[in-house]
Amino acid sequence: MAKILDGKVFAKNLRDELKGIVSILREEYGNVPGLAVVLVGDNPASEVYVRNKGIQTKECGMRSYEHKLASTVQQDDLLKVIKQLNDDPEVDGILVQLPLPNHIDSQKVLDSIDPEKDVDGFHIINAGRLATGGDALVPCTPLGCLLLLKDHFDELTGKNVVVIGRSNIVGKPMAALLLRESCTVTIAHSKSNNLEEICQRADILIAAVGKPEMITKDFIKKGAVVLDVGINRIAAPEKGPGKMKLVGDVAFHEAKNRVEAITPVPGGIGPMTIAVLLRNTIQAACNRRAWKCDL
Ligand code: GUN
Repeated sequence: MAKILDGKVFAKNLRDELKGIVSILREEYGNVPGLAVVLVGDNPASEVYVRNKGIQTKECGMRSYEHKLASTVQQDDLLKVIKQLNDDPEVDGILVQLPLPNHIDSQKVLDSIDPEKDVDGFHIINAGRLATGGDALVPCTPLGCLLLLKDHFDELTGKNVVVIGRSNIVGKPMAALLLRESCTVTIAHSKSNNLEEICQRADILIAAVGKPEMITKDFIKKGAVVLDVGINRIAAPEKGPGKMKLVGDVAFHEAKNRVEAITPVPGGIGPMTIAVLLRNTIQAACNRRAWKCDL
């Protein structure tokens, strides 16, 4: 039977561990890390994410700051808010919730964040540090995948990994992290020739391509470990007219009979990202403040 890798349990355990670290920091240094989240506009999904980030930050014992700006905010005014947060010594991490409204240049905004406070790891300096093997703040989703893999495997060295997807948020940083672990890494994508054959060679298959249930059992080597990063909302007529459901990039029900372990959707990688964001915030605080901590 395949092991179902439960992201909710993993996230809860990680948050408990982080809570312990934060309480040690409070005792040792008389302060705790602070995370500022900037939300522009009133996208309901973003509002839920931001609320959950605030709740979990405080539950971990850290300081949480929220900045809500109207969807009509001018780019310069948003940049001013970020500058204030960059200059505020009590703010260790800054996250600008995406997507931003169309009139704003998202990359310019992300690159205005102090790289030492860039807990999303989206700044070009952090992307460059990761790509060149330096100390970087790393995007939360691929870092969560790595933590899960390190928990599952005694050793990652030499494993054949196929990452499907080449985004700056998941595919590319995922590949860089696994190279750092001495894996043999292939980055494939929706336009790769012979994708099925490439995937069949993978000891570890990471799907981040954004195509609902595209990875069927024929893509998967027997006994592989499969991480499904996709979150796709599709029609679910079986639930009733107009109903929707979430599925991953992997056809879970057929894949689970072939794999050693697999993450479900929902309940796999998705629930882990906020816990990893909190971990990044602690890391940023310890780096900035020269605090010692055991991450
Ligand atoms: N919107 C959805 N996911 C994310 C994320 O990981 N970071 C940011 N900044 N915005 C998001």
